[in-house]
Parts: sequence; structure tokens; C-alpha cells
Amino acid sequence: MFTKNSIIGVIGSGAMGSGIAQVAATTGHKVIVYDNNKDSLTKAEANLKTSLSKLVEKQKITAEVQQSVFSNISFVASLNELANCNLIIEAIVEKLEIKKSVFSELEKLVKEDCVLASNTSSLSITSIASACTNPERVIGIHFFNPATLMPLVEIIPGIATATTITTACKTLIDSWGKTTVIAKDTPGFIVNRVARPFYSEALRIYEEGIADMPTIDWAMKEIAGFKMGPFELMDLIGHDVNYVVTETVWTQFYYDPKFKPALSQKRLLEAGFLGRKSGRGFYNYSADSKLPEPDKNVELGKTIVKRILFMLINEAADTLYLKVASRDDIDLAMIKGVNYPKGLLKWADELGIPLIVKELTGLKDFYEEDRYRISPLLKQNFIMKKTFY
Ligand SMILES: NC(=O)c1ccc[n+]([C@@H]2O[C@H](COP(=O)([O-])OP(=O)(O)OC[C@H]3O[C@@H](n4cnc5c(N)ncnc54)[C@H](O)[C@@H]3O)[C@@H](O)[C@H]2O)c1
Repeated sequence: MFTKNSIIGVIGSGAMGSGIAQVAATTGHKVIVYDNNKDSLTKAEANLKTSLSKLVEKQKITAEVQQSVFSNISFVASLNELANCNLIIEAIVEKLEIKKSVFSELEKLVKEDCVLASNTSSLSITSIASACTNPERVIGIHFFNPATLMPLVEIIPGIATATTITTACKTLIDSWGKTTVIAKDTPGFIVNRVARPFYSEALRIYEEGIADMPTIDWAMKEIAGFKMGPFELMDLIGHDVNYVVTETVWTQFYYDPKFKPALSQKRLLEAGFLGRKSGRGFYNYSADSKLPEPDKNVELGKTIVKRILFMLINEAADTLYLKVASRDDIDLAMIKGVNYPKGLLKWADELGIPLIVKELTGLKDFYEEDRYRISPLLKQNFIMKKTFY
């Protein structure tokens, strides 16, 4: 369906749209980027120049490649210029009604076989596709930020998407050097769903006063091997993004308590303490303040790790149980999308499912909260003495 000569359209020239355009142009495609904000287009073009020059300086690409990537991308101020595209990836504001109106308008001007994709993080692909008379050609192609560096791309067929479209998109994005996984059209897809307990369980431990933030961060890095601790990562992502994703997943799952956001994070958002970008989040990043030291108590650290890691494994198991994605794709997504040191289901096998079920049962009995309910698949594997692999 797609070839090297396929023309790629990108709608939205913000953080994601410009990254996606650069990836596609680097592979050799002609790329047309449209944005309804002229300033955003100008900024994107200038950023692309800078980003390519830096790559040349670091000797990651040659001056010839820089020139060809740059000449492959054009920035346009009219949606009509996308008429000849073979694939269009939309990366505009995360508002369902606006996306639907863009898709509906787009469908009227493109060729019959043009594939229409959304880079949405949290909206239903099926719902976006419902704005089109031919929803079979609408699909989710979800890149991670920054799109030029992060290897993972989630491919999300809506319920009406044609299988041929899913296969063609997967093959194309693989050819761009990315790692693709297929996810069912459910809130948070794979990564933004499975990763929720990394933040929420850390917040719960902190809110209960079991440990402070630097100790939780230290335990998850030093004992569990994650690249960053939950609090420093939330501060890096920004609470305007991280809190909103949590709240969206929670509301879309009909307020399932296991996805419930934490008040301590909401207060940061209300205060405008968005994290590193505003100079203050959970931690204070001003020049004159020192980051607090962790209590390097190994026993406490192990308790923290068990609780957060086992809740992550529980969610990975439930994601598999509910057939959102395959076992291998769930593990791959967490490694390639959020740099986890291991796939969670593989990790579960290594640690032993009986230990995980015992610890989770302890939490469930103690708190008597539905938040700690154990995935039926984890229980089933425990009873039948089975492993995930
Ligand atoms: N930022 C992330 O970490 C991230 C990661 C994965 C997916 N996403 C998703 O990607 C999409 C874009 O996110 P972003 O961070 O690049 O946003 P952004 O705010 O950086 O850029 C959005 C761009 O879309 C343009 N735009 C808005 N409405 C438009 C319209 N009707 N027509 C044309 N252009 C329009 C804006 O002018 C802006 O340039 C969202 O759906 C978001 O959920 C974001």
C-alpha cells in the first residue's frame, strides 16, 4: 500500500507533528506539514533547521542528509495542500470535537485510498473515525515524545479499521526504524495504561507517609533499576501532562478506583508547580535550593519496590487478560516506550507469581480497596502454577 514515494501529510506542527515529520522525511518521504497557526509553522521550520544542524555538528548525519531531509519537508498554511498525500498523521490539540471536524474536512479533499491517522494519546480512535464516511481507513499511530528519539509507536485500529490498513501502517512505520506494537482501542492503549501505577502507587506511598519522595525515587532507581524515580519523572513530564493523562484514563474507565488520580499531584497543578519547566514541582529546582537526600534504608526500599513493581505487573497482566495487546507487545512497549529495565510479564516470571499474588493479596486485605484487586490472569496463573512465558 505504501512505498518510499508515498507522500506523508502531518497536521499540527507542534512538538509531536514536527518530530513525526522529521522521522518520515529522514526515511526519504516527501512530507507536507499543515498547521492552522502561522507562528507555529514558522517556529517548526526554524526548529527543524536547528535540530538538523545539531545532528550535523554531532556527526550523526552528513550535510547532504541534512539538506535532503530539509528539502523533503514543506510547511503549508492550507489543508487543501494535503490532497495528494497517501498517509496523513494528525497531531493537533487533544480535543475530540476539533479532531473530528478536521478528519471530516480532510476526508472530503483527499484521495479515496489515503489513510488517515491520529497521534492522539488518550482519545478513542473509533470515535474520531466516526466523523468519516469511510472509518475503515482511520487508525491510531501513536508516537512517543520526542518522536525523533523514542523508538516505540503504538498502532491502534479502531473497531471499523480495515485489517489491511493496520498491516500496511505497521510495515511502513517499521520501515522508518521504529518498533511498533498493536494495541486495542482502549483508554491509554498500552503504555499510558500499564505505566499508571508507577506514578499512582508512588504517590500513595508518599501520601501515607511510608517514605518521602527522594527515598521512593532512590528505591526505584537503585533497587529496581528504573532510569528515573516516579517523582523526578513526573516533574520532568510536567504535571499538566502527567496528571491530565491519569485523570483521562480514570474517567474513561468509568472511574475505576485503580486509576484514581492523587490529590497531592492535583494541588501542584492548581498551584502552577508544573515540574522542571516551571522551576518547581514535587522538587524545587531553583538554583539556591538543594534536592533532598533519600533515606537509603534497603528494607524500606524493598518494600517500596515490591508495592510499585507488583502493581505495575498486575496492570500488565490485566492488559493481557483483557486482550488489549499480546504478551510480547506489552513487554516490548514498556521497554521501548518508557525505558523500563525489563518487560513486566517477564519480570513477573522471574520474581515468581506466588510472591506477587501474596503481596497483592496482603495489600487488598489490608486496605479493603478495589484499587488493589488482583488481575484474574495473575490469579489464574498462580492457581494453575503457570508462568507468562
Ligand atoms: N506531547 C506529548 O508528549 C505527546 C505524546 C504523544 C502523543 N501526543 C499527542 O499528539 C497531539 C499533539 O500534541 P503536541 O504535544 O504536539 O501538541 P502541541 O500543542 O505542541 O501542538 C499542536 C499543534 O496543533 C496545531 N493545531 C491546533 N488545532 C489545529 C487545527 N484545527 N488544525 C491544524 N492545526 C491545529 C497548533 O497550532 C499546534 O501547533 C495530541 O493529540 C497529543 O495528545 C502528545
